[in-house]
Amino acid sequence: MLGPVILAASRSDRMRRLISAAPVTKQVVDRFIPGETVDDIVPIVEELTAKGLELTMDVVGEDITTPEQASAARDAYLELIERIAPLGLGDKVEMSVKLSMFGQALDDGHELALANVRPVVEAAAAIGTTVTLDAEDHTTLDSMFAIHEELRKDFPQTGCVIQAYLFRTEADARRLAEAGSRVRLVKGAYKEPAQVAYQQKHEIDKAYVRVLRILMEGEGYPMIGSHDPRLISIAQELARRAGRKLDEYEFQMLYGIRGEEHLRLAAEGHRMRVYTAYGTDWYGYFMRRLAEKPANLRFFARSMVSK
Ligand code: FDA
Repeated sequence: MLGPVILAASRSDRMRRLISAAPVTKQVVDRFIPGETVDDIVPIVEELTAKGLELTMDVVGEDITTPEQASAARDAYLELIERIAPLGLGDKVEMSVKLSMFGQALDDGHELALANVRPVVEAAAAIGTTVTLDAEDHTTLDSMFAIHEELRKDFPQTGCVIQAYLFRTEADARRLAEAGSRVRLVKGAYKEPAQVAYQQKHEIDKAYVRVLRILMEGEGYPMIGSHDPRLISIAQELARRAGRKLDEYEFQMLYGIRGEEHLRLAAEGHRMRVYTAYGTDWYGYFMRRLAEKPANLRFFARSMVSK
């Protein structure tokens, strides 16, 4: 019940100001967002990749309001790519981007977001890695998929995310499950209306399995974005039945969630990619992590009270 309330708060400027200013917030935020600057994050990239993990990097931020902020987002990714280039990690470290941060919701936002994301995709390709377009709320997805298709003309390895909770997703999965495509399947983290999305956990989980089957049986490269132990076992079984080798799909989880499982899957020989977010504009990302698990909120509330 708490989840939808927290998700509503994630879009409130008043709550953003309140929570961002709370003195104890940072120590709780650090669990999910382990740095604010490139200088903070490069050592973490080195540490995690040395443990056999792969990464997808997110410079946090979304819902920007000016074209200058969109250019700044592009530049932040370009700086990150420049800083990790000498590490020579290739596609062990890819980028995840939210198009809203690249200007998608501004005037002429579709073109602006495409113009801002393209140099990031080019820079990533130049160091042997890729970019995946995150999926945001359902109103943004037609534009996201069109940008994805456009980018794939020159950079076919560009990935995208699909969300099991949306009714449209089975059809999207069928369209995307073609040779060379990279598709991350997640349950979905936004507050969506019943006209477009399943609302109950068991319905979302069932939809996840249906879509996963389409991806596993298809020709593309499935990226299983979930911490759910049941879905992870089902994914392994579906991969086995589809005759996929260990390097023909990968698991992805968020930094700070089930860290031991990251290492366990990597030790079993799976490709395990950790979605690692950093930056100062962490509010929206952090609130979605609270909404996913009410126990996080209790922990957060306790730390506020005990100070
Ligand atoms: P579920 O929520 O059922 O959780 C399963 C178990 O995982 C829980 O019981 C708990 O143990 C643990 N867990 C999950 N979330 C937790 C949390 N916040 N704190 C502590 N423990 C937690 N969404 C989206 O809409 N667009 C996107 O682009 C992305 N991108 C993305 C990338 C990657 C790599 C991942 C893993 C997830 C996303 N998501 C996302 C988020 C996704 O939609 C979803 O909200 C979360 O992954 C939680 O769903 P689970 O599949 O983990 O299952």
